[in-house]
Amino acid sequence: MSDPIARMNTLVDELLRHNRLYHQENRAEISDLEYDARFRELEALEARFPLLVRADSPTRKVGFTAVAELTPFTHEIPMLSLANGYHKAAPTWGDAWEDIVEFERGKSDRPGGIRRILGDAAPAVIAYVVEPKLDGLAMELVYQDGVFVAGGTRGDGQVGEDVTHNLRTIANLPKRLVGAPRGRLSVRGEVLFDLAGFERMNQEREARGERRFENPRNSAAGTIRQLDPAQAAGRPLHFYAHSAGLHPDAPASHWELLAQFRAWGFTVSPLCRRCEGLAEVIAAVQDIERARAELPYEIDGAVLKVDDVGLQDTLGFVTRSPRWAMAFKYLPAQVQTRLEGVLFSVGRTGQVTPVAQLQPVRVGGVTVRNASLHNEHQMQRVLGLRHGDSVVIPRAGDVIPEVVAAVDEPGREAREPVVYPTACPDCGHPLVRSLADEARPEMVHVACPNSFGCPSQVEGALRHFASRLAMDIEGLGEKLVAQLVAAGLAKRPSDLYALAGRREAVLGLERMGEASAQNLLDGIEASKARPLERCLLALGVPMVGESTAKDLARYFRDIDAIVLADVPALDAVPGIAETTATAIHGFFADPGNRDEVARLKAAGVQFVPPPAPASGGLSGKTFVLTGTLPSYSREAMKARLEAAGGKISGSVSRKTDYVVAGADAGSKLDKARELGVAVLDEAGALALLGE
Ligand code: IVH
Repeated sequence: MSDPIARMNTLVDELLRHNRLYHQENRAEISDLEYDARFRELEALEARFPLLVRADSPTRKVGFTAVAELTPFTHEIPMLSLANGYHKAAPTWGDAWEDIVEFERGKSDRPGGIRRILGDAAPAVIAYVVEPKLDGLAMELVYQDGVFVAGGTRGDGQVGEDVTHNLRTIANLPKRLVGAPRGRLSVRGEVLFDLAGFERMNQEREARGERRFENPRNSAAGTIRQLDPAQAAGRPLHFYAHSAGLHPDAPASHWELLAQFRAWGFTVSPLCRRCEGLAEVIAAVQDIERARAELPYEIDGAVLKVDDVGLQDTLGFVTRSPRWAMAFKYLPAQVQTRLEGVLFSVGRTGQVTPVAQLQPVRVGGVTVRNASLHNEHQMQRVLGLRHGDSVVIPRAGDVIPEVVAAVDEPGREAREPVVYPTACPDCGHPLVRSLADEARPEMVHVACPNSFGCPSQVEGALRHFASRLAMDIEGLGEKLVAQLVAAGLAKRPSDLYALAGRREAVLGLERMGEASAQNLLDGIEASKARPLERCLLALGVPMVGESTAKDLARYFRDIDAIVLADVPALDAVPGIAETTATAIHGFFADPGNRDEVARLKAAGVQFVPPPAPASGGLSGKTFVLTGTLPSYSREAMKARLEAAGGKISGSVSRKTDYVVAGADAGSKLDKARELGVAVLDEAGALALLGE
């Protein structure tokens, strides 16, 4: 595994940069899909390393802070984001609507799904409103006694920019509401640039020798942020209302809210539909997609909202977004190209993965030559790939995109299917296949077992062994590993510890001075005292990442106990699933791996057990539990937090570190909010526990 902490840092830096480009400079370098993928990767890493979450991580906030020229616009109620779901490429990719079904029903093996969160409160048929996801500029409009007084952009969700002067120029934005309640009211929606007007404007700009606007969304943003409203006045901007901020007299359903908006004088998309149950939802989502090409503005998906406001309140929010709504993104545009071959590459652990070699094709501004085929199941069963196939890759320009489908063309049946080799493409050793798992066929992997003789594995294993999260051997980088292997000085990690006795040979390596040799040998010596969990990680046991290594070390506290443990013993470790237990057992059953552990011990590696377990990762932290959690009973959650060293208290005070709140949380939650105590939902608590 590459260094996850470094990866987290990189992701935060990248995402902040893309936020800035998108929100402040009105241009984007990556697609929404790529942004979301990185965002989710970061979320997953942060869930594994909750204590390392950077304060400025974009997962903590929405968007980016306002620039200085325009005055700040504070949202009295934060403007949140929407969780995303995706249309899958059906029929080859299983059910295209899986994410919509999961939104209501949840996944069988993890918490979530509004039906499960609601429990008995869920009606037999849940009503939704399905709307187009308007690809414009999120805006909040404030009305006082029915009169438009101010409006601002979303910004970071808390504070945006005051753009009242430009909003006043938008013709369909009501300046005075018909029949709205007195008092303060805020309406949210999108400012959109009319597509025909956009094209016209770009032609005019070109004629004047000015730069074209990239897309309608960016030009809407550019326009709305102008200091001089005269600019905006000449441009075809529209406002579409989709939700309420402050509302003193809110109706009981979202559908009625939309009707109210229309009655007050707002434009609401005519594509909005009220749907009873998932079948109607899916039909409405499809209708919107069909209408997409003809719309006068851009959309990038559909939004599903639970209609009943009472149910919305019960469902509540997670950090960034409401649980009662989801943005469902349509399939990205795709390109086709020809498969020229499949390369089977051998990783550090010996795992053999297929990579499609493609006839070069331009995708999203880059030339793509390779695409991922993921694994045997994906390649042979899902795609049914055949030599010379015409294949489809998504237009969202990932660095290494994936093949999403093979085109069913005449004569295809006659061509040979692409199959895995039986021997390692690197060293020729016969490959082995992990046990088939009916439930998760994508987890079956094919590997070269020749760990110490297969060149790509040897270098990979040494690099991994020396890496920062593993043995952290200073001075042993990628280049030096390659040199050591080439010079025959190291075939396996334990060989590194013999280098001290071969100083002359080390000094003989190219560009190796006295000082760097000493540095290397010191680094190797120091690594003998690494804790057990790092040694486990360093060994490269399949499926054992940092957190599993910790679980194993904490539980067994001794390397020999782990080497000798059978599958049931490993399976008994909290946090370790049976497939992982089987993989660990398989690794240590291999005489070569056992032998390597023995060599490391003989060389002086201590496999230092963790300190006695009195206090876990949450020691010193006080928790209060309230409400009904979606999948854990309160007792079970209490036990888990206590096992990690947390203290459970019955009442909320300033000393409380976290309140874990489920459905129907009452006064304790209010108290937490009042005192500014951090509130976690079940997922948040599990994340803190390192899940
Ligand atoms: S409702 C609590 N409805 O999408 C969330 N948002 O990713 C309330 N958006 O910032 C938002 N079309 O600006 C909603 N029909 C629609 C929307 C929509 C576009 C934007 C919205 C929000 C972003 C969330």
